[in-house]
Formats: sequence, structure tokens, C-alpha cells
Amino acid sequence: MRIDILTLFPKMFDGFLSESIVKRAIEKKLVEINIINFRDFSKMNNQQVDDTPYGGGSGMVLMVEPLVDAIEHYKTKDSKVILLCPQGKTYTQECAYRLREEKHIILVCGHYEGFDERIREFVDEEISIGDYVLTGGELPSMVISDSIIRLLDGVIKKESYLEESFTNHLLDYPTYTRPQEFRGLKVPEVLLSGNHEEIDKWRKEEQRKKTQEKRKDLLK
Ligand SMILES: C[S@@+](CC[C@H](N)C(=O)[O-])C[C@H]1O[C@@H](n2cnc3c(N)ncnc32)[C@H](O)[C@@H]1O
Repeated sequence: MRIDILTLFPKMFDGFLSESIVKRAIEKKLVEINIINFRDFSKMNNQQVDDTPYGGGSGMVLMVEPLVDAIEHYKTKDSKVILLCPQGKTYTQECAYRLREEKHIILVCGHYEGFDERIREFVDEEISIGDYVLTGGELPSMVISDSIIRLLDGVIKKESYLEESFTNHLLDYPTYTRPQEFRGLKVPEVLLSGNHEEIDKWRKEEQRKKTQEKRKDLLK
């Protein structure tokens, strides 16, 4: 899979690309990530990409032309172009599973007051990572890329994500590691029993209980 991220702030991605699972996935060539500064597509002398809004109002609006030129430069017949926007469809684990099937994703990060409305004619979908407003689309693009990359074959073990929260409409089961007792808090006996059938049963029941308790809405 290839992910192209269009941004005005490429440096924000330095840490994201150079640590942990994402770094290893890139090294193993399981994913290619390109950070593209769409300011390079400005046709203005000062490389301007934003301007004041028609009709007045506060803040600066990203101009449609450099963004569309950048999208069209990288877009192929296999591309899915996604606009990051608080007004988009809310991102979920289900979306991550759907997007991992794509060959090429282009993520468009806004900033300032957002985009010239006409950009919407040039993208395939709009995604929000939640009902709050961030400074820019950079963090959302990292959230989305990260959640997709860890689902790609060879990145992490399949067993690791198949029982995770939001798979099968359930939250994950409780996990423990050493010590067996901490300030009077004990690891459940069943996990020390070595009886894998009983452990599986306990985990499934805990998943159901936890979901019922914390996220009833997931139980369908
Ligand atoms: C300050 S926001 C613009 C908000 C816009 N004026 C509005 O009220 O809908 C700047 C940019 O950050 C990104 N952004 C902010 N919050 C986001 C969210 N919850 N999900 C995805 N992108 C977001 C978008 O790319 C957006 O264009």
C-alpha cells in the first residue's frame, strides 16, 4: 500500500515515521508513505496557498487550485482521495478495515479555517476523527495511517488485532502481566491455571461484560 499525505507541515511527521511499528512497516516495504508539501504546487510568487474568505470573516482559507493540482499530480486510477475534515464521516475501526484494502490513499490535510468548499468536488470521501476541532489535518492523517498500517499483512500478528476492541462489536478482554499481586490486587486465578479452554471462556465472558458496562452501543 502507498499513502500520500498532502500537508503544509511535513516536519510534523518526523516522529511518526521514525518510530516503532510504522517505522518497521516502512523498512519492510509493507507500506510506502510520502509526505508532500502542497505549497510546492502554488503558482504564486510567494508560494501562497491560502487567502482571506469571500464575504469576510476570520481566518485564512486554503485555495482550491494548489490542492487540486497536487491531488491530480499524484492520483492514479487506483487512488482513493480522502479529505480530512471535522464535517466528514466519523472514523471507526470498520473504516480502517475497509481502507486497508486500498492500493493507494491520498490524505489531504487542511489548516487555518479549512478548505475552499470547491475542493469537495475533487475528493472521494471526507473523514473526521471525532467531534472536535483540531488545528490541522496532520494528526488525523497520522491516526488514520497508523490504524490502517497495523492491519496490513506482515505488520503485526493477526492474533494481536483479531481480538482487539471494536472487532466483532466488542471491547478487548482484560490483560495482566507480572507481578501476580500488586498492592493487594491479584491476577484472576483462571489466567494462572494453564487451562486454555477455561481462559478462552473467561476472556470471551469478560469481553461481553466490559462492553455491556462501558460501550453498550457496540452490542448489536
Ligand atoms: C481548524 S480546522 C477547520 C475547521 C472548520 N472551519 C470547521 O469548523 O469545520 C483546520 C483543519 O484541521 C483538520 N481537522 C480539524 N479537526 C478535524 C477532525 N476532527 N477530523 C479531521 N480533520 C480535522 C481539517 O483538515 C481542517 O480543514
